[in-house]
Amino acid sequence: MKSYQKLLLENKAWAAEKIDSDPDYFNRLANVQTPEFLWIGCSDSRVPANEITGTKPGEIFVHRNIANMVIHTDVNLLSVLDYAVNHLKVKHIIVCGHYGCGGIKASMTNTDYKAVLNMWLRNIKDVYRHNREELDAIENLEERSDRLSELNVIEQVVRLSQTTIVQNAWEKEKAPHLHGWVYGLKDGMINPVFELAAGSDIDPLYRYDKIQ
Ligand code: CO
Repeated sequence: MKSYQKLLLENKAWAAEKIDSDPDYFNRLANVQTPEFLWIGCSDSRVPANEITGTKPGEIFVHRNIANMVIHTDVNLLSVLDYAVNHLKVKHIIVCGHYGCGGIKASMTNTDYKAVLNMWLRNIKDVYRHNREELDAIENLEERSDRLSELNVIEQVVRLSQTTIVQNAWEKEKAPHLHGWVYGLKDGMINPVFELAAGSDIDPLYRYDKIQ
């Protein structure tokens, strides 16, 4: 059997099991989704949002990319953010990075990953540059990249607060609250490292007045 055929087979078994234990399961989920959380995580296959948080289908709206970045020209991310905030009215946005992140580690090297990946990883290099003194002082490279994972998550949460989508919602809905978490591949534990409650102060440089 081909590897992908196993996935389809597993899917059949999973669907049958769900219906077996709860005949109305899919009918209920098919009609509406009202997730309370937007998850912006790393694409890494070892960090599945639902599994590590014990949540079920319907509970978390998910966006994933390499190193869980919030880039203001990323139409994909912004569309997800807009829909989650303005239509689904999520109460919390969680940016979840992870220790041992390959994207974070790659950004710390001088390797030429070619055009597209270099472009993406440069955004992480910028986070490094903003925190160069602290990071350069950490001699162990693994510890240094783990700290960059934390600092990166903080920066991405701040970037969320810089968008008119979030600022608008803070003004009108007093939500969503923003969270920066880092997941540990080695112990499965999530470390909450940063939080911005709705209505928190925003650097005046990024604050928009006359929000429509
Ligand atoms: Co990663």
